[in-house]
Amino acid sequence: MNIRSSFFSGTNLDNFATSGALRFRARAAIPGGAHTYAKGDDQYPLLAPGFIARGLGCHVWDVDGNEFIEYGMGLRAVSLGHGFPAVVKAAVGQMSQGTNFTRPSALEVECAERLIELVPAAEMAKFTKDGSTATTAAIRLARAYTGRDMIALCSDQPFFSYDDWAICTTPMNAGVPRAMAELTQGFRYNDLSSAEALFARYPGRVAALILEAEKEVPPTPGYLATLRKLCHRNGALLIIDEMITGFRWPGCSAQSHHGIEADLSTFGKAMGNGIAISALLGRREIMELGGLNHDRDRVFLLSTTHGAETHALAAALAVMNTYRDEPVIETLHRQGSRLKAGIENSTQRRGLTRYFKLAGRTSNMVYACCDRDGVPSQTFRTLFLQETIRRGLLAPSLVTSYSHTNDDIDRTIEAIDGALAVYQKALEDGPEAHLIGRPVAPVFRRRATSTSAGTPRTKVRGSSDAKAS
Ligand SMILES: Cc1ncc(COP(=O)(O)O)c(C=O)c1O
Repeated sequence: MNIRSSFFSGTNLDNFATSGALRFRARAAIPGGAHTYAKGDDQYPLLAPGFIARGLGCHVWDVDGNEFIEYGMGLRAVSLGHGFPAVVKAAVGQMSQGTNFTRPSALEVECAERLIELVPAAEMAKFTKDGSTATTAAIRLARAYTGRDMIALCSDQPFFSYDDWAICTTPMNAGVPRAMAELTQGFRYNDLSSAEALFARYPGRVAALILEAEKEVPPTPGYLATLRKLCHRNGALLIIDEMITGFRWPGCSAQSHHGIEADLSTFGKAMGNGIAISALLGRREIMELGGLNHDRDRVFLLSTTHGAETHALAAALAVMNTYRDEPVIETLHRQGSRLKAGIENSTQRRGLTRYFKLAGRTSNMVYACCDRDGVPSQTFRTLFLQETIRRGLLAPSLVTSYSHTNDDIDRTIEAIDGALAVYQKALEDGPEAHLIGRPVAPVFRRRATSTSAGTPRTKVRGSSDAKAS
């Protein structure tokens, strides 16, 4: 069968009848109707697949049987592709041998050693299940190591953890004790003076700075190295969150790529190709506080029932083997570059370069949709999502996987060109004339009913488009 012939090209809600019915049950049984905010209904247009039934490679099928080429791949957790045979084989093989015992498995040692080899600055590793627990553990460890309570996160970056220390900085901070906000400060990316000002304002009080080494813009020359020196000069640690950059940047991490040694770093997402596993890595002297070889106060570091399930460790080993043996990262970049060239050709041809913009490394592209004044617009984003969904794409971002073939990319370029033709018209006669239903809304908004992009901001956070997980 020619796979292209079965792609979705729907124009009305009947195409999503099963999704529509499931939506009511989901909202009755699950707060928000989904277990991750970024996957929720308010992040997608009305004309969208509500639930995915299965995936293979970079293709997914929704519960109505519609097929899509997927981008973003499970919030960047699936970098090799859905159902990637080597990972499935390793995980299933291990499941049949048991997944959790009363003593550790030898796989814990093997997986920790392999991960430490990958990250030059790391001397020890500890596993857990999701990124938030790993970054929270890094914060606790930094506080214990330095004997300080305050921490600072990069306020230009949207998400580090679902935990209080990070969520206290967002508009969605109900349920977080107010006192938390006094302990979390912000600093700006690529702006050393904002970090200097922080240390000057709170001398001897900041335990650590946490940031992603690179997001949509790369670090300015010397920024990361100077930031590290600044931290150390002020008795603080530098934590690099590699949840997104890990297994996507050349060398498997942004710290390797930029030649910077973090004191602590956190990995997750692509590390298990969709199977839950994440890790805290760091220098022995710091990590050991969670261990037995010291006479300082002990840190309760990531001790969980499920943290080192054997099938997830086997999956992570299979992922690392695949990255070692095959040109995964080169492929993510190559296919991203092919996509970028095709889209930019389309935006130039259509005069849309001011309105539809790509950003980020080609292994991790995102896009911005702007209105006719060139201002980021949730309504235009929703219209773009609607029109790409109509043409068989599910693309909240344009993050490629190892499974995206040339054919997938070329088909995507064609579909995006079609969506941009509608965008072009909407710039003339208004997006409302083309959009079915309400626009999407940012995850981090105070009230569920607000669909405005102009949500209130806290003292730390700068982005109203922040996505949770
Ligand atoms: C940079 C970053 N850090 C941490 C997290 C939290 O990871 P998780 O959703 O696995 O808890 C995310 C999730 O999106 C992230 O993007």
